[in-house]
Amino acid sequence: MSQSPATDWQARAAQLREKIERANYRYHVLDDPEITDADYDRAMRELEALEDAHPQLAAADSPTRRVGARAQGGFAEVRHAKPMLSLNNAFELDGDDDRERFREVAEFERRIEQTLDRRSPVFSVEPKLDGLAISLRYEDGAFVQGATRGDGETGEDVTANLRTVRAIPLRLRGEDWPRVLEVRGEVIMLHKDFEAFNERARAAGEKTLANPRNGAAGSLRQLDPAITARRKLSFFAYAIGDVEGGELPQSHSKTLATLRDWGFPVSPEVATAKGFDGLIAYYRRIGAKRDALPYDIDGVVYKLDDYEGQRAMGFVSRAPRWAIAHKFPAQEQTTTVEAIEIQIGRTGAATPVARLAPVQVAGVTVTNATLHNADQVARLDVRVGDTVIVRRAGDVIPEVVRVMPELRPAHTQAWHMPSHCPVCGSALLREEGEAAWRCSGGLICPAQRKEALIHFAARRAMDIEGIGERFVDALVDFGYVHTPADLYRLTLDDFLEMKRRADERDGTTPETVRQGKVATKWAENLIEAIEASKHTTLPRFLFALGIMHIGESTAKTLAAWLGSLAMIRRMPATILRVLPDVGSEVAASIAGFFAQQGNQQVVDKLLAAGIVFADETHASPKLRDRLDLAVLLDKADVNKLGPKSTRLLADRFPTLDQLLAAGQAHWIVAGLPSAAATNLEAFLAEETNLRPLREAAAAMHELLASIPKASAEQASPLEGQTVVLTGTLSSLSRDEAKDRLEALGAKVAGSVSKKTSFVVAGEAAGSKLDKAQELGVAVWDEAQLLALLARHEGGS
Ligand code: IVH
Repeated sequence: MSQSPATDWQARAAQLREKIERANYRYHVLDDPEITDADYDRAMRELEALEDAHPQLAAADSPTRRVGARAQGGFAEVRHAKPMLSLNNAFELDGDDDRERFREVAEFERRIEQTLDRRSPVFSVEPKLDGLAISLRYEDGAFVQGATRGDGETGEDVTANLRTVRAIPLRLRGEDWPRVLEVRGEVIMLHKDFEAFNERARAAGEKTLANPRNGAAGSLRQLDPAITARRKLSFFAYAIGDVEGGELPQSHSKTLATLRDWGFPVSPEVATAKGFDGLIAYYRRIGAKRDALPYDIDGVVYKLDDYEGQRAMGFVSRAPRWAIAHKFPAQEQTTTVEAIEIQIGRTGAATPVARLAPVQVAGVTVTNATLHNADQVARLDVRVGDTVIVRRAGDVIPEVVRVMPELRPAHTQAWHMPSHCPVCGSALLREEGEAAWRCSGGLICPAQRKEALIHFAARRAMDIEGIGERFVDALVDFGYVHTPADLYRLTLDDFLEMKRRADERDGTTPETVRQGKVATKWAENLIEAIEASKHTTLPRFLFALGIMHIGESTAKTLAAWLGSLAMIRRMPATILRVLPDVGSEVAASIAGFFAQQGNQQVVDKLLAAGIVFADETHASPKLRDRLDLAVLLDKADVNKLGPKSTRLLADRFPTLDQLLAAGQAHWIVAGLPSAAATNLEAFLAEETNLRPLREAAAAMHELLASIPKASAEQASPLEGQTVVLTGTLSSLSRDEAKDRLEALGAKVAGSVSKKTSFVVAGEAAGSKLDKAQELGVAVWDEAQLLALLARHEGGS
């Protein structure tokens, strides 16, 4: 039986259609994709090419002619008043110049020029958001129905879920909106919300989201809106559907501006551009920014701006001829796992890492991807030899998203965390309730020493330029550096010798005179950078120490409240816990770090090396409001001794000595219930209870005594006030307003709550203004803000 070439391509087309349809179903209906976007695009393009070559093949039901798969049960169906269209795609091709590389864009633009007989038409240019398309219907200004796109004709009624998305206005702002208005756009999940969700899921041993798009889609398809509400979603508007009883502007860009006025978020990246060159310039600009954007995009969209031109261009099979999506290279790719290794971090955490067959992901070659922790490996069931989907988005470390079990070779084995550290051989241990296994070797583990050094030298820490990974390896391996303090003892000769040994070990070329000079210059620069790092700030230094759970913001809190390293390194956990955003775990970690002699010695050596802080000061006077004996007694958690009782005792006996000297009888006379007094007496009789309390009380006394007596001038007139900025201010930028308010002691928050002191509403203020009104929080205008700033600035 011989096969004609005709049946060959027929069979191939059928195969591709099935693949695409299955992928559509998994992606659009089940929200559980099976192949990568890149694989999908490839199949689609191959099928399109086949159908172009053999038009008789192109059945009306081909996936190339369809927007998406049909919605599945669970939600009521919604017929869209106007169909929700799809966009044709343009990809980057091979070629030497822009017109070749972006031929599809050039053809799109030329077709418009020719059809409309216009030179360099104006386009609305927008990011192509990677979320879920939805349609929002407003009647008389009220949100009445929200639907998914579904197959473009019929979607699912997800009104209840969309109501939980805060970016979606429940009522339109402003006026002059049409009686019926359908706004379309994309529901997305921001990177930070996606990361936070997955972090929580991982910690709880639950299923993680493969990517933010799945996060948005999966959340909207929850039958229980309460679940949707807990997953933070965002929304950007980019199109209009049905409009009745009113007028819209004559161009898309003006419509978007109007939508913004009516309370819809529109991506801040939206702009206009002229002609082919303008389009490509925008593509490049957004492409360069892609990794820094707070959400995923998979390309940019060009839309002919004026509606008259749009009408004249019309549609071809469900996609407009006046718009096109210009796609970026995909952020997900498939590759195979060659090994699973363990990386030991600065705090000893053992992170499984997949070594991959090199693959290009979004323009970068990826050879490693994180597997996060042992639970994640078990959940994904990643094995050596597996074909996996890797994803790289933004600055985030590439990660393994999913395994493709159908491609698993025979005889693979499930992976298990090794029992010992691959670097130092110490046992790997896991604490109760923790996801991470840790190497128990501490600083005897070279891996931890190296990570600690790299962290210490990092830009946001001590900022020592030139301490790259390779030199840290050599510094530690050859024994030049055991702790960060050793860095400050190294001489020019040490560096040169170390470099020679490193080159030798790596088999790098032998030394010539010229190279000798280069090496000397390198070492001199390094010494200079180390020297320069001695002048630093207290938060940087604290962050650089690499204390577990101490990020930059906690370091700033410590410095702002306690003022000096001398205080911070002496404070017990009980005292640290009164600082804002310092919980028991963080407090224990800081106190635990400084409780170790070795760490205190390293700090002493660093100070002896000449490290100085420009910003050391005394402890904050605000501590007086947060810290007294009542607080210490509260933290001691004595049975039956509630906050009222501790308050009473602290007011009557302000120091621990006075409290002890008074004794049970006097406490009762002072008004303490006798049961509480008995319990307290018994509690204080135990040396194991009394000692930490004495220590805490002594530390508290020392800390409070170090605060200078209140001066007549008040430096922070807005102390204790929380301000929220919303909308656009005309005479100063939001950042500037924030800086100036903070300089006066106010806290500037991102969202409105009952605790908000006042909201400053500029032009086009949105949901935060609504929230303020709902909660009865004071709303100020720009003039009031300026008057306030004028009153306090420079005058304090
Ligand atoms: S406009 C007639 N604008 O891309 C044009 N779509 O392939 C209708 N998308 O379903 C869509 N960002 O999910 C438009 N700025 C943007 C977009 C965008 C993302 C998605 C949307 C749509 C798909 C079309």
